[in-house]
Formats: sequence, structure tokens, C-alpha cells
Amino acid sequence: MNILAIESSCDDTAAAVVRDGRTVLSSCVSSQIEMHTIYGGVVPEIASRKHVEAVSGLADLALERSGLAKKDLEAIAVTYAPGLIGAVLVGVNFAKGAALALDLPLIPVHHVRGHIAANYITHPDLEPPFVCLCVSGGTSAIVDVRSYTEMSILGGTRDDAAGECFDKVARVLGIGYPGGGPMDRLSEGGDDTRYELPRAHVHGADLDMSFSGLKTACLNLIHNAQQKGEQLDLPSFAASFGRAVSDTLVPRTMEAARQMGYGKVAVAGGVAANRRIRADLVKACQASGDRLFLPELTWCGDNAAMIGSQGYYEYLAGRRAGTDLNAFATRDISLG
Ligand code: KG4
Repeated sequence: MNILAIESSCDDTAAAVVRDGRTVLSSCVSSQIEMHTIYGGVVPEIASRKHVEAVSGLADLALERSGLAKKDLEAIAVTYAPGLIGAVLVGVNFAKGAALALDLPLIPVHHVRGHIAANYITHPDLEPPFVCLCVSGGTSAIVDVRSYTEMSILGGTRDDAAGECFDKVARVLGIGYPGGGPMDRLSEGGDDTRYELPRAHVHGADLDMSFSGLKTACLNLIHNAQQKGEQLDLPSFAASFGRAVSDTLVPRTMEAARQMGYGKVAVAGGVAANRRIRADLVKACQASGDRLFLPELTWCGDNAAMIGSQGYYEYLAGRRAGTDLNAFATRDISLG
């Protein structure tokens, strides 16, 4: 089954053609990073306008690169939640129009379910059930993936997402936006014990997490150093920060894996590209005996191939939308 997928939930416009949920025939991403960099973060209104300019051309390009014709498409999948509402609406409206014009079924896809499905593209043998750590700019959650379309949150952040924390700290350091990649590279060769940073625990909710205290501690440390005219050891600071984030995410993921007993752990989202988190998960899974599934770096960040992959499984489960499909800024993953 050939699905044209559309993604526009944040600052990347993306279109892809995916066959049977696992084979990517084409994947095109148009990043707006350059545009938002001057503001140090995503400006929602600009994001929406850029999606409007890009979406139609990208869909054409994805179809052309797939080697298929419009008549070979069998469904349209689209991210309809969660995300910046104006941005998501652009993709949803384009997909509705395309489905109507081509007389194809329309499949609504939850963005975080898409991130999880990126693992199906990388690992042809991965099948639910498994536990998935979902970490991106807007999400930090440990998800119980019971089946391709039945999932629920086992634990999640009470405040900031891990990616948001990377981005804010990087912004104050002035090392670029989005900050996760630059922080990761900066940490190379740093001493991860040099700076003592807090790890928060949520009493009575062992799988939940919190990053706002870590963010504040980092910002205070940076500002104090600036006020005293002291130079921070940046690689060691970035390494200490990466370790604090990983120390929060990895043990909780492993505890969730222990509780569920599936023997399979996956990770998903932009922060899944982080080398420290990947390395710590490898070590933890070697110790526990769980099989670890890491998505290829290409599929960690936002893309439409992952939406096409999840869209296929949503389609098999009978999920369809009409022209009344709406976009949602927030939506529980268990609702699909
Ligand atoms: O999945 P994604 O592209 O967009 C959302 O759905 O949010 O994730 C973007 C997030 C940003 O916060 C970015 O800083 C972070 O992923 N990120 C990383 C790395 N690469 C991207 N965080 C840590 N280490 C990285 N290597």
C-alpha cells in the first residue's frame, strides 16, 4: 500500500511516500531553521506561513522522487496533533484537499506515534509490544506500545521536555538553535563530573520526570560565571548537562521496561539522536538483557516518512478521517 504522508507540526515541512509502513520510497524535508535562528526559537506565525509556501511543492517532489504517479497512491496520511496549531492546520488542510482531489482515504496520525514508528523503518523486525522513550522538543514520555495503535503513557515530564531544556541552555550559551545537536557535539572530550547539576524526582510517580529545575540550575550557573567574569569549561559543562539529562531518562525507561517485561526497548524523537543517551541505553540494555532499538539518525528528527509508516498501521486498524478533520495543539497519545 502506497501512502503519501504530510508533516508540518513545528518548523519542518515534510512529505514522503511510504510503502506498506516499512519501505520509504521518498522523503523530503524543508527546514525553516535558518528563518527562526535569528529569533532564537520557533515563531509560530512564521512557521505557518513557511509551511503554506512549501507544502504543495514538497508533496509533488516526494511523489516524483518515489517514482510513482498520483494514480499509484492509495491513501494520504497527515500529522493532525500535537504541535503548533497554525502549523499543523496547514498540513491537515493540504492533506484534506489532496485526499478529496485524488479520491483517497485520509488517515490522521498522532505526531509522537509517528516518532515511534520511525523505529519500524529502521528495524524491519521490530513489532509491538515494547517500551519506547519518546524525547523531542515538545515531548518527554515513556510509552507503553502494546500494539501498533494501542499505547499509553507510563511516565512523562511534569514541566519542560528534554529537547526544550537542551534548546534553552544552548540559547543562553549562544551556541545555536536548535541546541541539542550543538550541545551534543560540544560535550565531546568534556568531563561529565566537572559540574554538579540536579536530577529531579517526582515523589510517588517514579516514572515521571522534571527538567525545569535542571534548566534553572544551568541558567544560574552560566549567569553567575558571567557576572564573576569566569570562563566556563564548555565541553565539561555540556557533558555534565548531557549526563544529567540521560540520568533522568535512562533509569526510568529501564524501570518501565522491567515493569512491562516485554524485553524490548526503543527510543524516538529528535533527542534520540543524542550520543550520551544512546550510549547509556546501550549499556543499560546490555545489563538488563532487553533488546534495544535505536532509530537511524535520519529518522530521529521530524520527517514525513514516520507519519507514512504509522499511517499504514492506523489504516489497517480502520482509522479514517473526513473533511471535517481538525488539528489539535495537544492530544493524548492513547487517543491516537
Ligand atoms: O523530534 P524533533 O525534530 O521535533 C519535535 O517533534 O519536537 O526534536 C527536536 C529536538 C530539539 O529540541 C533539538 O534540540 C533536539 O531535538 N535534538 C537533540 C539532538 N539533536 C536534536 N537533543 C540532544 N542531542 C542531539 N543530538
